[in-house]
Amino acid sequence: MHEIDRVTLVDGSYQHSLLRDAPRVEAYAKAIASVVRPGDVVADLGSGSGILGWLALQAGAARVHAVEAHRGAAANLERLVRQNGVGDRVRVQEADAERWLPPEPVDVAMCELMETGLLHEAVAGVMRQVHAWPAMPRAVLPAGARLFVEAVELRDAFHGWRAPLPGWRGAESGAALTEPACYAAPDFLAAAPPEGVDWAGELRATRDGRADALRLRTETQLAPGIVLGSSPAYCNPVVLPLPEALPLRAGQRVAARLRYGFAFTAEPLRFALG
Ligand SMILES: C[S@@+](CC[C@H](N)C(=O)[O-])C[C@H]1O[C@@H](n2cnc3c(N)ncnc32)[C@H](O)[C@@H]1O
Repeated sequence: MHEIDRVTLVDGSYQHSLLRDAPRVEAYAKAIASVVRPGDVVADLGSGSGILGWLALQAGAARVHAVEAHRGAAANLERLVRQNGVGDRVRVQEADAERWLPPEPVDVAMCELMETGLLHEAVAGVMRQVHAWPAMPRAVLPAGARLFVEAVELRDAFHGWRAPLPGWRGAESGAALTEPACYAAPDFLAAAPPEGVDWAGELRATRDGRADALRLRTETQLAPGIVLGSSPAYCNPVVLPLPEALPLRAGQRVAARLRYGFAFTAEPLRFALG
């Protein structure tokens, strides 16, 4: 009889949902094809199912260092590498990419640990570690990101029960009342990203309404000219409900503030409007 542990089972479902997200996979495939050159050594940081490493091999990479921190994911990955017959070119390492050092110079470092606002996932910490490697890669993928905030009117109600809950939502979750403001634009190749953001700015209302939340959106600059917004399993907008709705008139400018750490941390997000 064969056996599989529960962690590996749960991870398999998660990785499969990422693979089924066609806009995400297609955008990464296009970016990898534009950045990876024949003979390159590639690091796939947070390798998961190994799809990005596979795409790098298709683009001509000589070798891929596939770094995966989680036991279930690494177990699935080892098997997929074997079953796809690329064990001689993909080296799986169960390790934390925020600490990992490459055993040889790397030409391209890839890391799909992207999350809206760089919340919750480790891309900022991994890119900081890449900047600490003995030699900087020629390219990193994603190349950067643009982080936006806007005020929204949620009007969330279920059988009359108002439920403006915080969290990741589809774009249909509310109507924008203001123009989006870009509150951070890290360039992952140019510099190690900071630990977080502390931003104060203004939002300009585009119509009348009652702002009951801030909404964060993120655009990933994958490679020159290749930008990915949100897709089913990727960078969904994040809603931060306000304790009280704030009435806004079209054309009004209102102060906004955001302060939080990038990546998964026990520290709360802090935000304000008005
Ligand atoms: C969003 S998934 C992306 C998987 C795959 N690269 C893809 O594009 O389909 C992120 C993967 O990184 C792994 N991971 C999360 N934090 C990590 C870390 N600090 N070091 C290495 N792997 C990590 C997760 O277990 C998960 O498999």
